[in-house]
Amino acid sequence: MSRRKITVVGAGNVGATTAQRLAQMEMGDVVLVDIVEDMPQGKALDLEEAAPVLGYDSKVTGSNTYDESAGSDVVVITSGMPRKPGMSRDDLLKTNVAIVKSVTEQVAAKSPDCILIIVSNPLDAMTYVASKVSGFPRERVMGMAGILDSARLSAFIGMELDVSVENIHAFVLGGHGDSMVPSTRYTTVAGVPVEELIEKNRLEEIVQRTRDGGAEIVKLLKTGSAFYAPSAAVAEMVESIMKDKKKILPCAALCEGEYGIDGLFVGVPAKLGAGGVEKIFEIKLSDAESAALAVSAAAVKKLCAEVDEML
Ligand code: NAI
Ligand code: 2OP
Repeated sequence: MSRRKITVVGAGNVGATTAQRLAQMEMGDVVLVDIVEDMPQGKALDLEEAAPVLGYDSKVTGSNTYDESAGSDVVVITSGMPRKPGMSRDDLLKTNVAIVKSVTEQVAAKSPDCILIIVSNPLDAMTYVASKVSGFPRERVMGMAGILDSARLSAFIGMELDVSVENIHAFVLGGHGDSMVPSTRYTTVAGVPVEELIEKNRLEEIVQRTRDGGAEIVKLLKTGSAFYAPSAAVAEMVESIMKDKKKILPCAALCEGEYGIDGLFVGVPAKLGAGGVEKIFEIKLSDAESAALAVSAAAVKKLCAEVDEML
């Protein structure tokens, strides 16, 4: 019996770290693809050489083509440019549309039944590109961002209250951009609403730090963007799919009327299982949250209109 297979396209910071996490979690055999000659092969070999120390048996293969990726169960697309200091995620649009389009075509040709998880930025628009180009049903295309943004909110609340992050459940909805919608109403600490634990103005500062979370890391790193937390978020999505855990996770999923949004990928709570996005949950939003989500969706719509011109 052959092992299950996960391909990670883009063997840069996010891709290589994702491959490392997936191999270590023994989610299946991992194929790492990149256009840079020999680099994915080198990283894959390094990961295979770490296996005896860490005790995992996942095979890791590096490649510059898609042959090894054939028949993948899940494909994670991280290929593309990251931000430089001062750039917004949207500044990456033109370059990354071309990359994600070409990668998706090659992935879909070799793995027509796979589930696609997109990471490249601007996230919601790149997930739209992968959906359009692959023609896959909506269950099998999704983007990673909400888990990352929610993790950042949880981390900041944990720092503020000096409590375990395991006690914190944070929820961030909307597009993965400056207009994302962190919902403090649905954020709890050991089941207690965070709004009862942190004073309003301070909570608003924490929310703003969450919105700026990606830029804060870019400013510190100077030569790239975050990858430890993003790869952890991808691994949680892959695990929920591969193990059919049916976790409810905030992901960019194709809304077809949910939350009044139609035909766009926007961050919403989704049940991830063996079938991919098995259900989108429509939680009750306040008027302010609904208005903020509409603003965020409008920003995604604008980018997708630009994408339509490019495809
Ligand atoms: P990176 O520069 O370290 O790696 C990107 C890799 O993609 C490079 O190795 C490059 O050679 C490869 N690549 C470029 N064109 C390719 C092609 N046509 N086929 C195969 N590989 C190709 O960048 P990093 O930090 O890994 O970020 C990757 C992308 O993910 C960026 O667009 C970044 O903005 C995005 N990102 C999104 C996050 C999210 O929350 N959705 C979080 C973190 C990063
Ligand atoms: C982040 O939020 C770069 O989108 C990525 O860190």
